Amino acid sequence: MNLTKKRIVSGMRSTGKLHLGHYFGVLTNWVKLQKEYESFFFIADWHALTTKYNDTAGLKESVRDVALDWLACGIDPNKSTIYLQSLVPETAELHIYLSMLTPQNWVERDPTLKDMTKILRTQGDSDGSITYGLLGYPVLMTADIITFNVDYVPVGIDQVAHIEISRDIIRRFNNIYKTEYFKEPKPLLTEIPLLKGIDGNKMGKSFNNDIKISDDEETTQKKIMRCITDRNRMRRDDKGNPENCEVAYTYWKIFGTEDELKEIEEGCKAATLGCADCKRCLAKKINEHFAPIREKRIELAKNPETVRDILIEGSKKARAEARKILDGAKEAIGMYF
Ligand code: TRP
Ligand code: SF4
Repeated sequence: MNLTKKRIVSGMRSTGKLHLGHYFGVLTNWVKLQKEYESFFFIADWHALTTKYNDTAGLKESVRDVALDWLACGIDPNKSTIYLQSLVPETAELHIYLSMLTPQNWVERDPTLKDMTKILRTQGDSDGSITYGLLGYPVLMTADIITFNVDYVPVGIDQVAHIEISRDIIRRFNNIYKTEYFKEPKPLLTEIPLLKGIDGNKMGKSFNNDIKISDDEETTQKKIMRCITDRNRMRRDDKGNPENCEVAYTYWKIFGTEDELKEIEEGCKAATLGCADCKRCLAKKINEHFAPIREKRIELAKNPETVRDILIEGSKKARAEARKILDGAKEAIGMYF
């Protein structure tokens, strides 16, 4: 046990191979945080089921893919506890206690519920009705959080509404059972440079506009060549402007050095640099950045047992801690045990 470090937990739904939005939005941040905090990172396969309960064929593979991406990007099992949500059943038990005391209208207020219902509808074989589990999404998140009684929850802005509900539920638990057992964790907001997809919309797997961490060089190059530039620059000798370059230049800002950015700007404005060449260079930069990560991922993928062991071991470690917290919660509630 570590008495000085503050504790964090965060999770990601198992939706398959991760893209650069995940990389810059979440993973690079976790890699930093794991040095400073006692960290629990989990793959939220129960949360994946809330919208995929009727489509589980790819579930195991998505878990493997997420784990591979995490490990390749530097989430380190020697620094963090990396686990699979469904292998820590203590969380489900805590979820039951929370479900008893969470008012119906609190979960109905969840602003993401509408979006998720839409996802359900587009999935064809579901009738699109809101299930009990989906409605309980923020309650399950609260259970994840209290499983380790953490101080902070590092999340992106899109999850803040959920964390607010979690704080309300935790406060209600403490009030009802006249205890201060659970901490009211604060979100640890990540400055996410909102990453656009190659078509200019928000990068997302379901929009078919993403670049995966695990894409190979050729695929990356092809995707970059397709990405949107300055729409006013129709021909090679039209002068362009990086400020109006919808996607390509926004990537350059992430991957390029100051000098490179200056060079691009000059070349673009003077039409001495064409978009195709500009994007070829960009693809090369991106490929260089991800080369070691992709190599590591390929190596790890050769040993599925190692990845499995990491998840199993991490989940055991998580369970040992979760058991203690759960017992304290049962005590606070007044359960017979
Ligand atoms: N809902 C989060 C997402 O979609 C994943 C998640 C589940 C989570 N449980 C959590 C994040 C608990 C932080 C804490 O990204
Ligand atoms: Fe964008 Fe580069 Fe084309 Fe300029 S030259 S519009 S920065 S892709």
